[in-house]
Amino acid sequence: MNVLIVGGGGREHAIAAAVAKSPLCQKLFFAPGNAGTAALGENLPLKATDIDGVAAACREKGVDYVIVAPDDPLVLGMADALEEKGLRVFGPNRKAAMIEGSKVFAKNLMKKYGIPSARYAVFDNCTSAYEYIRTYTKFPAVIKADGLALGKGVVIAQTLGEAQDGLRSIMEDKIFGASGNQVVIEEFLTGPEVSVLCFTDGKTIVPMVSSMDHKRARDGDEGPNTGGMGTLAPNPFYTAEVAQECMRTIFLPTVEAMKEEGRPFKGCLYFGLMLTPDGPKVIEYNCRFGDPETQVVLSLLESDLLEIMSAVTDGRLSQADVRFSGEAAACVVLASGGYPGKYETGKEISGLEGSFEEGVAVYHAGTALREGKTVTSGGRVLGVTARAASLQKAVEKAYAAADKIHFSGKQWRTDIGRRALNALRK
Ligand code: AMP
Ligand code: GLY
Repeated sequence: MNVLIVGGGGREHAIAAAVAKSPLCQKLFFAPGNAGTAALGENLPLKATDIDGVAAACREKGVDYVIVAPDDPLVLGMADALEEKGLRVFGPNRKAAMIEGSKVFAKNLMKKYGIPSARYAVFDNCTSAYEYIRTYTKFPAVIKADGLALGKGVVIAQTLGEAQDGLRSIMEDKIFGASGNQVVIEEFLTGPEVSVLCFTDGKTIVPMVSSMDHKRARDGDEGPNTGGMGTLAPNPFYTAEVAQECMRTIFLPTVEAMKEEGRPFKGCLYFGLMLTPDGPKVIEYNCRFGDPETQVVLSLLESDLLEIMSAVTDGRLSQADVRFSGEAAACVVLASGGYPGKYETGKEISGLEGSFEEGVAVYHAGTALREGKTVTSGGRVLGVTARAASLQKAVEKAYAAADKIHFSGKQWRTDIGRRALNALRK
């Protein structure tokens, strides 16, 4: 197959590395890719949301199979448009992608089908939202913009003032545009967070190895929320017992609910879970692979990713071979100084050609090639990933490799895995 991967981040580089290993894969194309994917195939100068451009490129390049990795083209209906043109696609259609595209939709779905999640209320105008929050008694309150917001549309308000500021910026100043036309205000939950990415063809659901993201910018889970500063897999809080409970109370009911609603979900369904004292609850759904969860999860995949994806597309996932290694993996994100706020780009990256230990993979995210050099081009620049027999070893290996890579302003967390390792020691 000639395969086109839509997107250009670390997730897409990690998917590409796995797909490239498949005997089913002939040529790889990227829309738009990055400096890392350029080594695996051809980068096309297309925006990830350019539906017509991607369709035309598929025709021109003889592409058979398209993997739509990011949320925005999926929510816009790229999978529908490509399927209409006769292409085979990995990724949900527009109606199914609503599970991430609208938090109001997701919350109402969970309520209707009894899927455990935080209690909530929905508002489509500021006056009623302000009124509700004025009488709120159980701070912190969690305020979420309805639509996509680059993972930044959540405000955890400790006080009434912070809640009012959050509502104002989302609903009045519209810092996330139309995504803030509605908001969800929900109860604050506590407990360890777990990410579980699952393959599903709309009937069968197969969870991948669990993972843990580190969403805050700075050590000790301080600072603003980011797209994710590092990950590890498997997540030690996600025991076999918890996994069984999630399958019964969350995963299967979600697949059934989407089918029941006439929105069968085909692709990778991402469950952001919190293991609360009252049991596992859904914090969010994503309609795609997580970034940087994919970097660790696919590092541990032992079977053929392209074969699994094909099975999802064809609705025969129940027959697919999905196997993960019993090892562990860790990913340390190297970001541009200032991320997730303002940052500069165009900084030359050195040390990429260095000799890394066996089991290390450096996935590119915000990188570009300029006059033969690799330079920074985004907030999250690289995901330095390592696989090893234990989580401790994987973390050490990833940091040893990350130390060898340099660019001006390089910013990273030094405590990826600490919380998980402490839990394992107990
Ligand atoms: P999201 O963009 O939905 O992934 O939210 C970002 C982060 O906000 C999550 O990873 C959680 O750490 C936190 N969060 C979201 N919803 C809640 C909630 N109801 N209670 C506590 N924390 C939350
Ligand atoms: N790492 C979180 C996400 O992909 O949404």
